[in-house]
Amino acid sequence: MGMENLAIGSLPGVNPEQVAIRRLTGAIGAEIKGIDLGQGWDDAVFKVIYDALMEHGVVFLRDQSWTVDQQLEFSKLLGSPAFSKKLPFYDGTYEYVSVLENDGTQLVVGDVWHNDNTDWVSPPMGAVLHSEEMPEYGGDTLWASTYAAYDRLSAPMKQMLEGMTAIHDNSVVAAMYSSTKSLRSDGLQADETVEHPIVRTHPVTKRKALFVNSVYTRRVVGMGADEGKALLEMLYEQVKYPETQVRFRWEPNSVAIWDNRCTQHYAVSDYAGFRRKMRRVQIEGDRPF
Ligand code: SIN
Repeated sequence: MGMENLAIGSLPGVNPEQVAIRRLTGAIGAEIKGIDLGQGWDDAVFKVIYDALMEHGVVFLRDQSWTVDQQLEFSKLLGSPAFSKKLPFYDGTYEYVSVLENDGTQLVVGDVWHNDNTDWVSPPMGAVLHSEEMPEYGGDTLWASTYAAYDRLSAPMKQMLEGMTAIHDNSVVAAMYSSTKSLRSDGLQADETVEHPIVRTHPVTKRKALFVNSVYTRRVVGMGADEGKALLEMLYEQVKYPETQVRFRWEPNSVAIWDNRCTQHYAVSDYAGFRRKMRRVQIEGDRPF
């Protein structure tokens, strides 16, 4: 599918003739053109973005010079923002906005494949990430479709995973941040463990998605350590195939909106000597089933 014109009304930041969704890969990701969220939006514009998000798992918009308040207001259309003071990136101003800032030499957030916060009983449904400052090169982010990751598995494997669960916790992340003074660590403690299905059903699309990741998943319920580890490692591999992925080259004022229920992502750490600054709002989600 290439560019497709969409029938939406006229707003200062929207030229209906130019609004288009360009699919980026076979499995995941689309770029939305012709919308300037800094000039406002209406229900129709939100629906275009929401529908594209449900279809493609992650959507990108460029040249979005919106304010933090606008980012927050837009994010609230997706659901309740998750309280960022629980995270280590609260800069003391916006309670629901995480500031991800790096000069390329510090610990980078997310340079490993992961869903966000599957250590929560109800992990975030997604996030809205806005780039303020970007390195001259590097600092891309990759997303992988966990629908596509699931679809790669054989029928007997899919059958075996039916009804199986895994334990998730925050211990790896907590250990990383307690040794890093440059990132805030208030409130970040090893939470209680939670149990999630290994394969979840997306509440909107009803598609099945793999729901284990190497950051938060600890063990498979009902399996011994070796057996469970081998299974998890095989499942983690499924998001590493380029066929499941899209890679986004950021510019200042780019926006990525992703669905955390059917994607994992990886922030590439290859920009030593440059600054990279992002603002992120996470949206509360439902308990996976
Ligand atoms: C994240 O893992 O949420 C951060 C992604 C990024 O900085 O590109």
